[in-house]
Amino acid sequence: MAGPVSILVTRKLPAAALAILRDAGAVEVAAAPLDAEALRLHVRGRAALVCLLTDRIDTALLDAAGPGLRIVANVAVGVDNIDIPAARERGIVVTNTPDVLTNAVAEFTWGLILAVTRRLTEADRCIRRGEWAGWSPDLLNGTELAGKRLGIVGAGRIGRAVAARAPAFGMDVVFTRRGTASEIDGRPALSLDEVLVTSDVVSVHAPLTPETRHLIDRHALGRMKSTAYLINTARGPVVDEEALVVALEAGVLAGAALDVFEREPAIHPGLLRLENVVLAPHLGSSTRETRTAMAELAARNVVRVLRGQRPLTPVE
Ligand code: DGY
Repeated sequence: MAGPVSILVTRKLPAAALAILRDAGAVEVAAAPLDAEALRLHVRGRAALVCLLTDRIDTALLDAAGPGLRIVANVAVGVDNIDIPAARERGIVVTNTPDVLTNAVAEFTWGLILAVTRRLTEADRCIRRGEWAGWSPDLLNGTELAGKRLGIVGAGRIGRAVAARAPAFGMDVVFTRRGTASEIDGRPALSLDEVLVTSDVVSVHAPLTPETRHLIDRHALGRMKSTAYLINTARGPVVDEEALVVALEAGVLAGAALDVFEREPAIHPGLLRLENVVLAPHLGSSTRETRTAMAELAARNVVRVLRGQRPLTPVE
């Protein structure tokens, strides 16, 4: 008789998610992060792979798995780490974790907007370095949000959730256009150029695809107001990091707050030198509630596919 199907989980996940998976098969959780070669060795013969955005799921990996692999469940909403056409060709279902992280990323985006416009990380460094000599009228003056415009690049779930919170700060919102609609959620949908030229804060929420790689390049940065701020909580390569450093050094824009980077976990040394840049280590979805919900959703997708059911959140 055949034994239980085998499920590989590439990194320790919350216990609740592992318990869901154990209902469907024998679960092996990698004891340490697996590099590409180790992942290819470990995936062989598995029916399901639960992976992270840091795992590259390419043709070599899918071939190494063998014909029994039925599902790749990414514990992330972004799927730029997975070769989707290659999975599709092999009949492997790919799932992601939309919705459950929307609120966490939207809240974090506002944290970054406030941090960079009110210079919170500079202020923190000032105190820790012992440089604060007392209250002063011109100490670390920031920029107010009320009456300003927020430009959302990428009007998906997260971009729209960020926009929905803008009225609390008295900000007007515009989106980049999707298709031909002139409005999204009752707000103007403009060309990317119009968004860049007219916004005081530009927040990037586009998925990484061949079309969006370096969408915010030297030219795009040059279209922003010199008083404007760039926020990126989507994927690093959507912004040309080298061009951003050059633009920030030249005062082309006022500052940036970045949760994602082109070559994570490496950070462009120019960004580390700049005071007007807030840096976070890809934490957008990092709340206990959301990380648990993401892992549980990925686990439920695995269980459903292994039982021959349609997954809850397939990538189609
Ligand atoms: C995602 O889910 O794509 C996020 O980047 C994870 O934080």
